[in-house]
Amino acid sequence: MASKLAERERAQAATLPEDDIVGLLLAQHARIRDLFAEIGVRRGEHRRKPFDELRALLAVHETGEEMVLRPVSRRSAGPDVGRARNHEEKQAARLLAGLEKLDVAGPDFDREIAVLERAVSDHAVREELEEFPAVRAATSQDERRKLGRQLRAVQSLAPTRPHPGTVGSPLAQWALGPLASLVDRSRDALRRR
Ligand SMILES: [Fe+2]
Ligand SMILES: [Fe+2]
Repeated sequence: MASKLAERERAQAATLPEDDIVGLLLAQHARIRDLFAEIGVRRGEHRRKPFDELRALLAVHETGEEMVLRPVSRRSAGPDVGRARNHEEKQAARLLAGLEKLDVAGPDFDREIAVLERAVSDHAVREELEEFPAVRAATSQDERRKLGRQLRAVQSLAPTRPHPGTVGSPLAQWALGPLASLVDRSRDALRRR
């Protein structure tokens, strides 16, 4: 069942035109909440599939925000907001990298996924309060649709696993992201075989 926050995010996204960067990101926030909820109700190995989807979605979501949204929000919401969000994303990538090493059926996983869910939820709320309205106020609808198309392009090539060394550092994302992405996507392809 979708949480109240996820419902609100989807309702807000539905009021925005297709490709609008804010609408795309809100819809991803809602999907991330759904996946945490699904992991919460599943037991043992049944958590693997929603966790794999969550891991990949979180990785590409944060990379897309850092590379496409943040340069705009730095100007409209200010550099402190951008720095704080990048820092939170690095922390979340560390938590996610730790979770990846745990057994999804084990007790440590329960504890750590709860910590990650809280961090990611608080982070998303701050983006929705401090960043998205500033970006909407500072851009035209056409600009936001162009940004949305850029977001899709970046996300289709972004790493699918957490990389705490590059996440939170846009310069490192541009320099090292493509290699990390190639490695991740090769691993994903091998797992599907
Ligand atoms: Fe984020
Ligand atoms: Fe986000």
